[in-house]
This record gives sequence, structure tokens and C-alpha cells, in this order.
Amino acid sequence: KHKPIIFSGIQPTGQPHLGNYLGAVSNWVALQEQAHLDNETLLFSIVDLHAITMPQNPEKLRKERREMAITLLACGIDPKKCILFEQSKVSGHAELAWILNCMTPVGWLARMTQWKSKLGVTKGAQSLEDVSATTGLQLGLFAYPVLMAADVLLYKATKIPVGEDQIQHLELARDIAQTFNKTYKKPVFPLPMPITPDTKRIMSLRDHTKKMSKSDKSDQTRINLVDSAEVIASKIKRAVTDSVQGVSYDRESRPAVSNLVDMYAALKGVSVEEVVKEHANSSNAAFKEALTDVLVSSLKPIQVEMMRLEKEGGYVQSVLDEGALRANEIARPNLMEIQKLVGL
Ligand code: ADP
Ligand code: NA
Repeated sequence: KHKPIIFSGIQPTGQPHLGNYLGAVSNWVALQEQAHLDNETLLFSIVDLHAITMPQNPEKLRKERREMAITLLACGIDPKKCILFEQSKVSGHAELAWILNCMTPVGWLARMTQWKSKLGVTKGAQSLEDVSATTGLQLGLFAYPVLMAADVLLYKATKIPVGEDQIQHLELARDIAQTFNKTYKKPVFPLPMPITPDTKRIMSLRDHTKKMSKSDKSDQTRINLVDSAEVIASKIKRAVTDSVQGVSYDRESRPAVSNLVDMYAALKGVSVEEVVKEHANSSNAAFKEALTDVLVSSLKPIQVEMMRLEKEGGYVQSVLDEGALRANEIARPNLMEIQKLVGL
């Protein structure tokens, strides 16, 4: 009896890169076309409240929020087919998070792995107090998964596109939803289900054991969506490969070359087998040149649109304002129902 509602969020931190595009944003665009046909509600949020769980510079955050909105629009997110908004502009996220904080055992959060990896906490039987003393762990970062639960539950969302790194948090959101429903003896929240895109993880250009990430210190490890043709050519030329002749695909024995094949296949929208067939006799250098061409021509239209949108600041802001209004229209009645149950 719950309508299908899809919610997904992305943090406005750092330069968006090819991994974000192939692993998340291009999927959102595909999802948007399907949801539009099926008349489903689709919410995409720039989750700025999550961004401040790590140290932030206010000017930088303002700039990156704007850049993320521009990037999403340039990649094809269409405000006629979805609701695009900034999390902090719909106060229900923080309001619901507080209510959920009051029913979430600290032990559930202590088990989460993300805050530990963000602070570089290695396994071991340290008490939470000791971890806090040595790392400066703050309440916001610790409670991040509760805010994420609130993001989803505020809209009674049913389907959540997430990367595998977020599955643990979504399970927690289900546990919190169940606790709430049980406590107040009413099926207020549907249990949100993950939709995991069948895309591959794009790995670092320099170290195939790490994913391509904006948090990697070296810019040479990733293709940023704004990289020029020259920068792309130079990064791909220097990307790690191996000394095997010809192009073949084997994630175990040829991880670096396979990563380049994955990029090529995803950008061209063809299978890995087709890429291997086409380039079986190419040298690594020749394949890298072909990949560079595909990267440059795929990113070009996005970059042109980004530049156009940079100049149309008023349009971008109006999309976000309108998105916040529409998100709030769904959020308000839900929050009122929840508050009433709680006695607020
Ligand atoms: P980053 O590691 O660069 O900070 P985020 O954690 O902000 O990226 O992820 C934003 C979205 O992009 C998530 O949905 C995530 O699953 C996806 N994503 C990030 N890096 C990659 C990658 N290397 N390959 C595929 N998808 C990725
Ligand atoms: Na991240």
C-alpha cells in the first residue's frame, strides 16, 4: 500500500570524477527515465548536512554545493522528471533525525564501519571513550547513519539506489524503521529496499586495489569530469598497465588493463567482450589512445553544459528552490504524522 518512492543522495564534497559518474550519476539518469515512465516519485538530494560531518571550509562547501548541482544537471538529471534539492533546505531531515536519534541504541552505531574507516580507526577492542579521545570522533559523524535513515524515511521511500559501501547503513535504516513501527504499533514506514546498480567499481589509475576516489591525495589516480583533453591524455598515458601483449579482460590476472576496459565499455555502452574483440591486437599504448578519445568525447558535452550552467546561476538556484518546495510538500505531512505519534 506504500507508493514506490525512490530516494538517493550524493555529498557535495570534492571534484566529481569518472567513478561517481559511471557508478552513480549515469545510473540516476537511467533510473529517472524509467521512473518517469512508471509515474514513480524520484528524489535526488545533495546531502550537505552529511558533508559537515567531516571538517569543512564554509566557502569551499558553498562552492561545492553549487558545483554538484551543476554537475548533476549537466550529466542529465532533469528537474522535470525528478526532485533535485539540497538536504539542508528541507528541515524535516534534521527534525526526523533527532526523533530517530532518540530511539537508536549507541551499540548499533558503534558497529558501523564507515566512521571507523574515515577516522582511520583500526580494529581492536578500544572503548568508544578511548577512540573519541584519540581521534576526536564527533557525535555528528557517529550518528551519520541515523541522518541517512531520516533522509529515506522522511519520504517513506521504498527503493534506494546505493553503492555496496552503503548497504550496511541501509540495513540500519530498516532496523530503525522497524523499531519505530513496533514502538508506535503502526506501519508508518515501509522498509526501504536497496537497488544496487550492476555497474563495476572503477579503480584508481595508479593502484588497482583502491577505488577511484576524490579522497585520494593524488589527482593522477582519477579522471575528473572537468579534466581537459590534454589532462585526460596525460593521466591515461601514465596509468598503470602490464607487459602482456594485446588487450584482454581478467580482473584477477590483469586488473589494471581490465579497469581500463571497464571504463571504455561503460562509456561506449558496449560489453567488455566487444571491447576485447575490437582491441585484441592493440598495444597498450594504442588502446590507451582509443580510451582517451572515448573519454574526451564522452565528457565534452557534459563540460559544455557545465560551462553554460555556470553562467546561468539564477536557473540553477531556481531548480534547487523549486526542488526544496516539492520535497517539503512530501516531507511535511509525513513529519506531522510522526510527530503526532511521538506526542509532539
Ligand atoms: P568518493 O569516494 O569519491 O568520495 P562518494 O563516496 O562520494 O565518492 O560516492 C558517491 C557515489 O559515487 C556513490 O554512489 C558511490 O557508490 C559512487 N562511487 C564513488 N566512487 C566510485 C568508483 N570508483 N566506482 C564506482 N562508483 C563509485
Ligand atoms: Na566519500
